[in-house]
Amino acid sequence: NTPLRNRAAAKGLIYGAATQTSILRSDTKFATRFAQECAMLVPENELKWKMLRPSLNSFDFTRSDWLANFASKNNMFFRGHTLVWHKSLPEWFKARVNSQNAEQIMLKHITTVVKHYAGKIHSWDVVNEAVFPEHGRADYLRNTPWLKFLGPNYIDFAFRVAAQADPKALLVYNDYGLEHSTPNDEAKRTAVLKLLERLKSKGTPVQALGIQAHLEGEAPFNTKKLRAFLKDVADMGLKIMITELDVADNMLPKNVLVRDRLIAGIYEDFLSVVLDEKAVIAVLTWGLSDRYTWLRDRKSRKDSASVRPLPLNAHMERKLAWYAIARAF
Ligand code: XIL
Repeated sequence: NTPLRNRAAAKGLIYGAATQTSILRSDTKFATRFAQECAMLVPENELKWKMLRPSLNSFDFTRSDWLANFASKNNMFFRGHTLVWHKSLPEWFKARVNSQNAEQIMLKHITTVVKHYAGKIHSWDVVNEAVFPEHGRADYLRNTPWLKFLGPNYIDFAFRVAAQADPKALLVYNDYGLEHSTPNDEAKRTAVLKLLERLKSKGTPVQALGIQAHLEGEAPFNTKKLRAFLKDVADMGLKIMITELDVADNMLPKNVLVRDRLIAGIYEDFLSVVLDEKAVIAVLTWGLSDRYTWLRDRKSRKDSASVRPLPLNAHMERKLAWYAIARAF
């Protein structure tokens, strides 16, 4: 009956999840369960530019401060996601940001936001999803507005500015597509290692890799290769966080018991490898209950049955996935 946060803590790990201000405010049953199970809260959208930056010259911390306060009241760590990303940019971004002012704008954004939470935040996803081998660049970087305006060193710049604004927060490079044994994931692992090596060799203050772990119900693991990847990261002196774990079940059979067993098996297979690696410090799911998951829209099922990617069902009850995570800790 012990909640996940206590099970994880007993192993020196942090368990937590992403959620939203509007969900916690409107669903008290969910909020209660969230506080029971989680030792870390990640704002699902509230710290993205779109929600934080109503205009070029203003910041609106109302919603993210509400979450930070909920976390502190419930004795949870608070985590920052995310400072630099090519998505969730505000409407004004395109018209107002250019190669002349991009560095100044990034500097002001990171400094203001990181200082606002300095001393209250565990870690920051400083740069999110900067690697994309499919774009065909020799350095495997994704074509983003930041790359276009500032060149590949925008990544180093972002980490240096964040480190100055809060020397205590753990600074994370976060990305997806690193978990399975598909050709895309293999290429992405190589590319991310190359990026991290470049950053480290230049003294850029990156301290951890965030592995999103949006797992696909039907995609295979190669446990040996996943293990080797984690070890390569750890050998560089980096910590590892599992930052956005969930299991897409849109390709799995409709029968709920069959489906829940398969989903739980994937949680178990993945976490049994991951938690063998001592550099791993946290496991965070992208949501806690199937009632609130981005996969409802993102990976909906053809048979229109509701998706079941998370540890609790829509009624806030523990599923087989919850027990799989509990056993893994
Ligand atoms: C997603 C949120 O869950 C959605 O609510 C939002 O509409 C779009 O972003 N990788 C990330 C997260 O780093 O920020 C994304 O979150 C999911 C994929």
